[in-house]
Amino acid sequence: MNLLIDNIGELVTNTGIGEGGPLGIRRKAALLVEEGEVAWIGPARYAPAADRRIDADGRAVLPGFVDSHAHLVFAGDRGAEFAARMAGEPYTGGGIRTTVAATRAADDDRLRDTVGRLRAEAMRQGSTTIEIKSGYGLSVADEARSLRIATEFTPETTFLGAHVVPPEYADRPDDYVGLVCGPMLRAALPYAKWIDVFCERGAFDADHARAILTVGQAAGLGVRVHANQLGPGPGVQLGVELGAASVDHCTHLSDLDVDALAMSETVATLLPGAEFSTRSPYPDARRLLDAGVTVALATDCNPGSSYTSSMPFCVALAVREMGMTPAEAVWAATAGGARALRRLDAGVLRPGVPADLSILDAPSFLHLAYRPGVPLISQVLHNGVPQCQ
Ligand code: NIG
Ligand code: FE
Repeated sequence: MNLLIDNIGELVTNTGIGEGGPLGIRRKAALLVEEGEVAWIGPARYAPAADRRIDADGRAVLPGFVDSHAHLVFAGDRGAEFAARMAGEPYTGGGIRTTVAATRAADDDRLRDTVGRLRAEAMRQGSTTIEIKSGYGLSVADEARSLRIATEFTPETTFLGAHVVPPEYADRPDDYVGLVCGPMLRAALPYAKWIDVFCERGAFDADHARAILTVGQAAGLGVRVHANQLGPGPGVQLGVELGAASVDHCTHLSDLDVDALAMSETVATLLPGAEFSTRSPYPDARRLLDAGVTVALATDCNPGSSYTSSMPFCVALAVREMGMTPAEAVWAATAGGARALRRLDAGVLRPGVPADLSILDAPSFLHLAYRPGVPLISQVLHNGVPQCQ
């Protein structure tokens, strides 16, 4: 069974071929899906016959969003903490321990239900690829089960045993780092593709972060870092030094941080949902783009600092608050996320890649920022299969 999407008004391919620079826009196009992959793209007037046909009726089609940063394995709710912030309390990351306690107390099915609900919610909003981190277990068994559950939903799983030092290790952080580097890493390895550290004052310093990331890298995991979120710090330069695929947050950057990123292959992943939800100044995407840094956008979906699964919301914030054009933001939310996960087969539409795409209820990708908060994702295909909307 093949499937033709016909009468596409504006097709964003991210191939660089066509209009719109890197977005590679084709107009009046059609796209054929066969065996879950894009089989053909061309002018609608040359569209081949197919078993099934979706008439896009002049609407826009774009690659599925690649949400390269999400913390979906958790239990509990921190709505009261959010309300306190909106009444003036600062965000410190201290609430992470509340979620750790709730997550440890939850059984596997409860965690699985939460991940499934949020994964489905993200898919409805056009995210066809999602990364999922551990980091609310912080014991050998709870980190391993968080990752095992995450593998049921995505191949992009990240071991974040170094999220914070859990309470039982509060007065011996070196011992916790030893646990993360030894037994916890060994238990995580069968289920993890990436390793991440929250490198920040109050979490892990540069020496601890380097020790953890280096041992994870030697064990075959790719490196990502939570860096420079709450203040200036060593995380970004450490990530670049270790060849991280991505350094995430990048809210407080020095000129040296920006230079280091510009001379590297490391992607700067910006998470505007976190600044929205912590009422903090947004990262300066314009400064990074003007320096030649590759920028990605992701949700950071988690119950504390950013409880949104919506990539369209992040695109709109990035355009309004971070100096990005709509084209730059849509590229960052699709192809940029794919670079942050070192994926060549995601965030792009060309023959041979999985047919992961969204049909918008709008004539152009511009509407994602122009019409914020409006549910514009009308149909999602994942591996060529239409998802329930
Ligand atoms: O990426 N910054 C560290 N971790 C998460 C927040 C987690 C939480 O507050 O529960 C983040 O923003
Ligand atoms: Fe995060």
